[in-house]
Amino acid sequence: TPPRPHVSTKMSVCGVDIGNLTSTVALARRRGVDVILNKESKRETPSMVNFDEKQRFMGTDASAKVMMNPKNTVSQLKRIIGRSFNEPDFAEEVKNLPFSVTPGPDNEPLINVTYLGQPAQFSPQRCLAMQMADLKLIAEADQGSKVTDVVVGVPAFFNEKQRRAMLDATHIAGFNCLRLMNETTATALAYGIFRTDLPEDNPQHVMFVDMGHASLQVCVVAFKKGQLKVLSQAFDRNFGGRDIDAVLFHHIAAEFKEKYGSKGVDVSQNARAAMRLSNEIEKVKKILSINPEAPLNVECLMNDVDCSTKLTREKLEELAVSIFDRFLTPIKTALADAGLRPDEISEVEVVGAASRTPCLVRTLEEFFGKQVARHLNATEAVSRGCALQCAMLSPAFRVREFDVQDVTPYSIAFRWDKVAAGADEGADDAAAGAADGNSVTSVLFPKGNVLPSEKMI
Ligand SMILES: Nc1ncnc2c1ncn2[C@@H]1O[C@H](COP(=O)(O)OP(=O)(O)OP(=O)(O)O)[C@@H](O)[C@H]1O
Ligand SMILES: [Mg+2]
Repeated sequence: TPPRPHVSTKMSVCGVDIGNLTSTVALARRRGVDVILNKESKRETPSMVNFDEKQRFMGTDASAKVMMNPKNTVSQLKRIIGRSFNEPDFAEEVKNLPFSVTPGPDNEPLINVTYLGQPAQFSPQRCLAMQMADLKLIAEADQGSKVTDVVVGVPAFFNEKQRRAMLDATHIAGFNCLRLMNETTATALAYGIFRTDLPEDNPQHVMFVDMGHASLQVCVVAFKKGQLKVLSQAFDRNFGGRDIDAVLFHHIAAEFKEKYGSKGVDVSQNARAAMRLSNEIEKVKKILSINPEAPLNVECLMNDVDCSTKLTREKLEELAVSIFDRFLTPIKTALADAGLRPDEISEVEVVGAASRTPCLVRTLEEFFGKQVARHLNATEAVSRGCALQCAMLSPAFRVREFDVQDVTPYSIAFRWDKVAAGADEGADDAAAGAADGNSVTSVLFPKGNVLPSEKMI
């Protein structure tokens, strides 16, 4: 008789955090949640796909190729997926990317690369699916069996179209996505579920501030024993580590042009040199988070010229002042929407790798008059929270009872066209919502509505 196929009895559920810079995957296990190491023994995998002459590369392999082949290395997919060239700021967004993105028939973005020696076009959904499939393999290699059930984090500000596009990507990747979860809510779950000291009655209010590569997300959560209730969410879609990098880049590129221009150095004329300089700048920025000054040296940046300078934290803060000045706006919005004063927040938890920026931490501490807390792993909280949520949704796991109440960050309206009819019907329409010409719009779920919710229409 042929050998019986191996049937794994190990059930597995996972959580995925697709970041703009790096992604992580976590597996829920009987004894807790593990963030899984990739084949380079790193927990963070670069969010990149490289299209090559013979094959495609994902993650760390793709990031190793980006310098040699920037035009065929796709990144920052979360900025592109589910968007449209009709949106006012979208053309500007893609202009800054090193690869080509052009509008498709419905103004949707399409990514153009050379793959296997041929021109090829991919939707952001498909590219993101390649990245997700790679994370799936990382989880499966560790688990030793198939991993299909997943909860994936999305920024709270993602609209319906962006969420659907993310869901498409999970399906293409071969995942069974049980839910998309707002990243800040996942963080709150990762924080709350293991706390054994939560109050029975008067809820404890915690603010979560996630400072990532491309955006800033804030939420205020009320915790009680066995329960988490999101009170408000606020964000700045264009406030992240990459925006700090961009101002430093402009400054240093201009300085190098002035210093070494006579020897032919001008990074605006050379994509590869610009990318190498960006990389060095990101490294220096991180050094400046713990040191007051740092050298910046790039060997043979252009025309075999070695370029060097020095950057201080003070200068960084001066250059990025227009960004840093915007930092408190979403914090104040989140507080106002939650109806709370700063002193009513018992803890301000910071996550996201850019939360290591001293100036931002200082601003938060001055505003709240207390130290920020770092109970969570800054780059793992989202995937851990997603894995926990996935375990809670899966019948195969028994997780401590914990109720997660999220809210919609925007209002959800319903619009329908009026049928040419008598006055009576028009009166009904007007009662149901705001009539405008031939269509009627009615807000079904206002901003801040508890999720999940149902309504008959
Ligand atoms: N020590 C540090 N000091 C300052 N900034 C840092 C430090 N370490 C990392 N960063 C910055 O943090 C950003 C990455 O943060 P994170 O990994 O949380 O983003 P992400 O989850 O990939 O992206 P997003 O959440 O926007 O989708 C990068 O811009 C990086 O330069
Ligand atoms: Mg993130």
